Amino acid sequence: APPVPAKIIIAGAPASGKGTQCEMLTAAYGCVHLSTGDMLRAAVAAGTPLGKSAAAAMDAGALVPDDVVIGMIVERLGGEDVAARGWLLDGFPRTGAQAAALAEAGVVPNAVLTLDVGVDTLVRRVTGRRSDPETGKVYHLEFAPPPNEEVAARLVCRSDDTEDKVRVRVAAFEEHASAIAGQYPGMVRVDGERPVDEVAADIKGVVDAALGDAAAAEEGG
Ligand code: AP5
Repeated sequence: APPVPAKIIIAGAPASGKGTQCEMLTAAYGCVHLSTGDMLRAAVAAGTPLGKSAAAAMDAGALVPDDVVIGMIVERLGGEDVAARGWLLDGFPRTGAQAAALAEAGVVPNAVLTLDVGVDTLVRRVTGRRSDPETGKVYHLEFAPPPNEEVAARLVCRSDDTEDKVRVRVAAFEEHASAIAGQYPGMVRVDGERPVDEVAADIKGVVDAALGDAAAAEEGG
């Protein structure tokens, strides 16, 4: 277990590799992975009122209203598992208002990272992405192909993973990027264009150092 529970925010454009890196982070630090995109897709699939209110925006590649997402994530951050194991926020906060709401709720990260990936690579990653509805695992037809024919046959594609919609999603990301960076002056930028393992090694270096600092601060006072 890490010296203190990990409290990590991972930001970055759509399909920059956040979810992929979160697999490594949860394995390394035992923290609870909270992806607002996954939570919203589960609510849409279950047909809950929250899901019904979010579906149209998501399908169009637009952001869901701040109050909907903030309420959902702040409630989840109050869980006992989160208090014991720490947390990893994937896809939240995405606007200045969301970051301000987190701070107001007393939620302070010990590491904030953002993955830098250019738009041409984002489009290639989005259009080749497929997920396994049975395991939730995410693949890429070219960069991370499924292990066998059986898995390949059941893969599905997200409705917002088209070239047109990813451009809308990237524009939404860019609109809010400076507000997010302004809320987290210590945010570390990681070059996300490289192979998964190289990106993961850099991220792990940043988080290990941040957790060491947090543990030392706790001991010191
Ligand atoms: P969300 O699900 O968060 O989507 P996103 O931010 O667009 O991010 P993705 O899940 O598309 O990508 P990722 O960065 O996790 O990349 P991945 O690892 O899969 O949000 C969806 C929607 O929900 C939003 O549009 C919005 O409507 C709503 N929403 C969610 N949060 C919200 C919020 N806070 N406020 C308001 N609305 C919100 O990788 C992509 C592909 O590339 C995969 O196929 C992978 O195998 C491959 N890959 C990954 N890394 C590499 C690598 N290093 N090299 C080669 N290939 C790689």
